[in-house]
Amino acid sequence: MNRRRRVGFQRLDDGRIAVRLPAAVRSFVAAAAERLRDVGTAPGSPGFARLFGRIDETADADDPAYVLARQLAVDEAVAAVAASTEKPVIDLEEAEAWLAVLGMTLSRRMEELGVRTEADRAGIAREDEAVIRVVYALQAGLIDALDEREPAPRRRASTARTVGVVGADGAEIDGVTVELVAGDIVRQPDVDAVVNAANAQLLPGGGVAGAIHRAAGPELAEECRPLAPISPGEAVITGGHRLANPYVIHCLGPVYGVDRPEDELLAACYRHSLELADRHGLRSVAFPAISTGAFGYPMERAAEVALGTVLKMVGRLESVRKVRFVLTDEGALQVHRAVLQHLLEQ
Ligand code: APR
Repeated sequence: MNRRRRVGFQRLDDGRIAVRLPAAVRSFVAAAAERLRDVGTAPGSPGFARLFGRIDETADADDPAYVLARQLAVDEAVAAVAASTEKPVIDLEEAEAWLAVLGMTLSRRMEELGVRTEADRAGIAREDEAVIRVVYALQAGLIDALDEREPAPRRRASTARTVGVVGADGAEIDGVTVELVAGDIVRQPDVDAVVNAANAQLLPGGGVAGAIHRAAGPELAEECRPLAPISPGEAVITGGHRLANPYVIHCLGPVYGVDRPEDELLAACYRHSLELADRHGLRSVAFPAISTGAFGYPMERAAEVALGTVLKMVGRLESVRKVRFVLTDEGALQVHRAVLQHLLEQ
């Protein structure tokens, strides 16, 4: 079955996008929109919660659209789908907004389910897996439709910055490529340095730190010992040892809700790492989403800080020409995509 054909979007000759939803989804959201009007309430209000109660009583529990709405239980997603169904042709800005909503909704849901990697999906309930697949299908269709459009002239900021789009997952700003990829930080052989989401003692830990130390071998911990401890926002550089990358930049992110002010400390991680890379004449650096794992930073907020800091830095970098964000899953990638697009349009 070709999901992209069943649930999708199509670019019309005039540049707008037609939404093609399967009949089940269409009738569900039409009914939801109708009830919204009946109840006379806005998403997020107590009346909206009652609305969900009514849908629970009447909906067919096997209907994928019902599963989607009920399981996500996030008002914006339903409101966005309902709005688009009532108006089956949407413009590009709406399409992009919907993509962002879907990305954030999905990543929030995956966080609740504890799904961080593709492998984690094997352990979740069938309905949850169905939700993830429906949202992926919607996203894929929307991205395809957006990719087909003619490149629109970009709004320029008042500074003389040059911005180009590199596929769906990157941008070139002032000669520096900012890339977003889904993958593993220890499988980025083409970059000069990978960044470690380290602990203060620079010891092997879980998550990114565990993966990097395992791949680099015990010599990395040896080299780290005299450099520890480091404080939140600080970065130090070592060799890559058995990694394919010549360097590792170790950075301690803030623990969300504990190390304050979080945003400044997280921004300092990216700033200090890029400054170190530049001082060492490196051309390319790959970052994980620092602090978003064990340290509990919400993904979207972290993406805003991380990408915002990198975009501010690009104009002053001398040797670094590529900054890659390596995200573990599609949900995190979507969040970064939406945030990057938003920042570039500001
Ligand atoms: N490649 C890319 N990203 C990864 C990888 C990997 N191999 N493994 C995990 N991630 C993702 C996580 O899903 C999360 O989004 O990187 C992000 C950062 O997760 P953590 O590694 O937990 O980093 P952080 O939140 O900064 O916490 C650091 O965790 O393992 C300990 O010793 C470490 O105490 C330190 C703390």
